[in-house]
Amino acid sequence: MSSLVSSQTEDFIDWWQHAVFYQIYPRSFKDSNGDGIGDLQGIISKLPYLAETGITATWLSPIFQSPMVDFGYDISDYRAIQPEYGSRADFDQLVHKASSLGIKIILDFVPNHSSDQHEWFKKSVARDPIYENFYVWADGKKDELGVRQPPNNWQSVFYGSAWEWNEQRQQYYLHQFTKEQPDLNYRNPAVVQAMDEVLLFWLNKGVAGFRIDAVNHLFEREDLADEPLSGKTADPLSYEYTKHVHTKDLPEVLAMVQHWRQLLDDYSAKHPDGVTRIMMTEAYADLHVLMDYYETADGVRGSQMPFNFHFITDVDCDSDARDFVYNVEKWLIYMPRGHAANWVMGNHDNPRVASRFGSASVDAMNMLLLTLPGIAVTYNGEELGMEDYREISWEDTVDPPARNAGKKDYKKVSRDPERTPFQWSNASNADFSTAAKTWLPVNPNYLVLNLAAQQEAARSHYKVYKALIELRKLPTLRRGRFSIEPLSRAVFALKRTLKDYETIVTIINVSAKEQLINLTDFINGPHKLIVEVAGVESTYNPGDFLFMASSQKSDKNWQLQLSPFAGLVLSHGPAGMSAQRRLLLKQIIKSFNVVLVALLMYNLWRHKWTKVNFN
Ligand code: GLC
Repeated sequence: MSSLVSSQTEDFIDWWQHAVFYQIYPRSFKDSNGDGIGDLQGIISKLPYLAETGITATWLSPIFQSPMVDFGYDISDYRAIQPEYGSRADFDQLVHKASSLGIKIILDFVPNHSSDQHEWFKKSVARDPIYENFYVWADGKKDELGVRQPPNNWQSVFYGSAWEWNEQRQQYYLHQFTKEQPDLNYRNPAVVQAMDEVLLFWLNKGVAGFRIDAVNHLFEREDLADEPLSGKTADPLSYEYTKHVHTKDLPEVLAMVQHWRQLLDDYSAKHPDGVTRIMMTEAYADLHVLMDYYETADGVRGSQMPFNFHFITDVDCDSDARDFVYNVEKWLIYMPRGHAANWVMGNHDNPRVASRFGSASVDAMNMLLLTLPGIAVTYNGEELGMEDYREISWEDTVDPPARNAGKKDYKKVSRDPERTPFQWSNASNADFSTAAKTWLPVNPNYLVLNLAAQQEAARSHYKVYKALIELRKLPTLRRGRFSIEPLSRAVFALKRTLKDYETIVTIINVSAKEQLINLTDFINGPHKLIVEVAGVESTYNPGDFLFMASSQKSDKNWQLQLSPFAGLVLSHGPAGMSAQRRLLLKQIIKSFNVVLVALLMYNLWRHKWTKVNFN
C-alpha cells in the first residue's frame, strides 16, 4: 500500500488546491434570449445553482468574439464578448454576481491561434510591418511537375495539411487546427507582448485565472523539417500519419508557461486581495512533460494545474480495479512535491462519463473524483450523469473535425454529442431555451434525465454529487493522507486519514457483477463504519452503520455488498456520528451562536439607548 500524500496543515491550502472547478460550455448552458444559443445572462441566472451545489470556481469555454468555426476557439477579438453571448457589461455583472456568491471565474485563453478574421491576421496577410511576422508563414515547395506544394508533411489535428495557401500574400500559413485558425508566432516578442496584454486586460476585470488552450502546440521547429511517419495509417492527410515531434511539446512551450506564471504571480502580488491567480493548462502529453509544467528539475514553477486527463484517456469501461489504481498512483508518483493533484472526469472534447464508463458508473466515478486528494474538475452536466446524444444527424452536425470526416465517418470523431444543451427540466427544450430550434439538438432523454427531476427525487446522481461536495469540507478530505489499492480485480478502495478525525474510505466496483467485500484488512481491524454517501441504486442509506469485525473473507456477516459499477463512501473513527450529521450539527451550533451574539448586541444597544434617554 502506498501513502503518497502527506497531510498538510490548513495554512498550506490555497483556495484552488482543494477546489471543485466546474466547466461551463456557454453555448449549451442556458439561453436567456430565446435564440437557441446559451449566453452570459443565462449563466448569470444559474450562478445560484452553482453556489448551492458547492462549486468553487467555474471555467468558461471561450466567450470572446468569434466567427464560431470552432465554436469560440477561433477568436477574432480577444477583448470583445461574442455578441450572441452578451456584452462586456454582462460579463462585469457575471463576475460581480459570482463573487457575491463566493464563486471564482476562470476564462479560456486560446493563445496558439486566432481566427483568420482577426485584425492581426488581416494585417499580417497585407504585410503590415507590425504584424507581418505575427503568424507562421512559409514559402511552399515545387514538386517534380513544378506544382506548388506545402512546405512539409505536417497535418492539422482536424485532418488535412496544416498549411493553407494565401493568394494575397503568396505564402502558406500554418494552422494546427482548422484553416480558419492560423497559428500565432511565439518566436516574435511582439506576439508574446500582445498576449500578455490580453491576460492583464481580463485580470483587471476580476478573473481568478485562465485555462490555457492547446498549450503544447505553441511552438514548431524553425527549419520546418518533415515529421517522421508513425506507421499507424497510410492516409497522409490523417493527423495519425506522423509522429508530432516538431509541432508539439517543444521545450520552448515550458518557457512560455513559466513566463505566464510569472505574470500571474506578479499580478497576485500587486493585488493584495489574497486571491492567487492561477492557470490550468490543456496538453494531452506524456506524463514527464506534464510534470515539467508543474515545475522543472531546476525548480522553476509553471502551471498550477497541468490537466490530468488520465481518467479520460487511460481507463474505460473495460479497465479493471488494478488499472484504476495504477492510473491514480502514476500521477501522484511523478508529481513533484509541494503541488496539488488534479483529476479531470470530462470535458467538451470527449465523450461523457455515462457514455465512456456506462450510466451505472456515474455515481462511482463522482465518488472517486471527489474523494481523491487535490482538485476535482467537472464538465457541466456530469453532476446529473448526462449522456452523449449520439444520434445527431449529419445535417445537424457542426463540429469541424466531424464535418471534415464526412457523412460516413462523422460519428467516430464528432464532439457534438457531449456538447448538447444542459438538461434543466422536462419542459420544452429541457428548459435550456425557448427557441424553436436550438444550436445543437437537445438529447431527447431530457424528459427523464434532468436537474429538476433529480432535485426532487429522494435519490439521484445530483444528490450524490452534492453530498460528496459537502463531505469534501471535512478536514480529512481536505488534507488527509491518502492510499489506494485493488482489493480484487473487480474492486478497489481508497482511504483518507487524518489524526483526530474520521477516516474516509471509498470503495468502487468496476465490474459488471455484484461483489461482496470484506474491508477488515483494508481498514486495519474491527470497526464500526458509517455510510456517508451511497449511489442511486445502493441498498445502503447514508447514516447506516456497518460493523466490520471479522477478517474471515468468507464470513458473510462482515461483507459489504456492492452492485455492478457501484461505489460507496464510508467513514469510521472518533466521532461515531456520520460526518454529514456532524457538519449539520456544526452549522446549527454556528447559527445558534449568531443568534446569541445578535441578541447580546441588541441588549447592549437597548441598554445604551435607555441610558441616553435617562440623562
Ligand atoms: C482545444 C479545445 C478544443 C479546440 C482546440 C482548438 O483542444 O479544447 O475544443 O477545438 O483546442 O482550439
